[in-house]
Amino acid sequence: MDGNGRWAQQKGLPRLAGHEQGSKSIRQCVEACMETGVEFLTLYAFSSENWKRPPLEVNGLMLLLERFLNEKKEEMLREGVRLRAIGRLDDLPPPCRKKLSEVVEATASNSRLHVILALSYSGRTEILDAVKSIVRDAAGGGLAPDDVTPELISSRLYTEGIPDPDLLIRTSGEMRISNFLLWQLSYTEIHVTKKLWPDFAKADFFEALEDYKSRSRRFGGV
Ligand code: IPE
Ligand code: MG
Repeated sequence: MDGNGRWAQQKGLPRLAGHEQGSKSIRQCVEACMETGVEFLTLYAFSSENWKRPPLEVNGLMLLLERFLNEKKEEMLREGVRLRAIGRLDDLPPPCRKKLSEVVEATASNSRLHVILALSYSGRTEILDAVKSIVRDAAGGGLAPDDVTPELISSRLYTEGIPDPDLLIRTSGEMRISNFLLWQLSYTEIHVTKKLWPDFAKADFFEALEDYKSRSRRFGGV
């Protein structure tokens, strides 16, 4: 989700105030999903590249994540939200990791809406990790070249069992993929909005769905 920094800057606030406000947009999207029957919502909350930001911002984001999980746990349980996380989760500070696994485990039997947080996530690293696991099996004699199918690759990604996205919403007008779900986005429809993430509300989500509805998806066919 992009544009927190610019939102804060426009208001003369510190960047962290933008991240704080941005976390409120998540609720708007979750509600919109529930109202429309969307079953999977993946949020690109923190990329592998984001570790390069100043420690003050990184620490603030990690604290915000921890607080978010603390505050939303009960509600997720009540509303039937299942939380999952994708990325190199071992990179996260231990208290964050602990809280995350706690909520992931607590909500594991929910199925109304799957919310997937991409944390310390990089699409290339995900593919790299999948290739490594395939090579490991091949070296052990358990896998032949013809066993490597698109389905096998999908099953080795962090998103195992999660369908490929139908729609990608990109906020703050950026026209790039930024290392997000590189394999999974092959045929995903893209909706770009100029709205900065903290300003992104339910109505914007509905607008994105309307845009999606107008698309003709041919998956390479005619
Ligand atoms: C949020 O937006 C993304 C996170 C890494 C949490 P940005 O922080 O990238 O906002 P801009 O791009 O500076 O506006
Ligand atoms: Mg940005």
